[in-house]
Amino acid sequence: MSVPPSEISTTPNAFRLEGSSRRYDQIVALAPTTLTIARGERVALVGPSGSGKTTLLSLLNATVTASSGSVEISGADIAQLSPRGLRAVRSQIATIPQHLGLVPNLRVWQNVATGRIGGRGLLGGLRDLFLLPKAALAEIHHLLDRVGIEEKLYARTSQLSGGQQQRVAVARALFQNPQAILADEPVSSVDPARAASLVELLCELAAERGLTLVMSLHNLELARTHFPRLIGLRGGRIQFDQTPAELDAAAFEKLYDLGEKEMLRDG
Ligand SMILES: Nc1ncnc2c1ncn2[C@@H]1O[C@H](COP(=O)(O)OP(=O)(O)O)[C@@H](O)[C@H]1O
Ligand SMILES: [Mg+2]
Repeated sequence: MSVPPSEISTTPNAFRLEGSSRRYDQIVALAPTTLTIARGERVALVGPSGSGKTTLLSLLNATVTASSGSVEISGADIAQLSPRGLRAVRSQIATIPQHLGLVPNLRVWQNVATGRIGGRGLLGGLRDLFLLPKAALAEIHHLLDRVGIEEKLYARTSQLSGGQQQRVAVARALFQNPQAILADEPVSSVDPARAASLVELLCELAAERGLTLVMSLHNLELARTHFPRLIGLRGGRIQFDQTPAELDAAAFEKLYDLGEKEMLRDG
């Protein structure tokens, strides 16, 4: 089966790293890495603490620059972009950071509204936090319904449970209207049942909207059951990049044997 050339040129990769590395002084957080993630792909990053998962995600959302090599996002080499071009590329990527990054004193709808600040410019964005257009509020209401916390629209964010706050962070990511979602251990602080339901929700939403999803996960079983592609990192290097079916127990053991033992007990 051949793919017409027009298909190829109009569907650039979501992400492409070419020999990309990141150092912090003497520490190699990520060794030179070459990696392609296609549009709409779902990828789980697994590996012990300190293996470079967050660093890799930070290269993918261009919040950290590579110490060597290149990073392409949607076909654009980010080192070649103007500040404005870089802002535009970043606004296509929604990141759910490990500690969610919600403002506890704001109402739920206001935290969701911050998803668009980057693309709106700071002033317009801040104004929206207080005087949101009706259509945008309706959209937020709809998103909260989709993530299962519709009734929390006007609640103070600090009064929500951990699991509900994760859903606020998911709604905020969606409100950004991204092409990709990067989630950094989004379920590390909740019980296994809640963790599974949040991972399922993110996978469903990504499939529904054709979004690329890259998620770092502590829980190997969740990664294996929900992601068609698993990338294992250790010491800043990719140890494997496989489907769950290809991956055997030995690969996991090798990934973790010098890492933290509690990782294997987790979840
Ligand atoms: N801002 C930083 N300054 C110094 N060292 C860092 C920084 N960020 C990460 N590192 C180091 O890089 C390595 C990889 O870290 P990280 O990407 O956070 O791993 P993970 O997310 O898998 O736990 C670790 O040794 C960590 O200490
Ligand atoms: Mg991390």
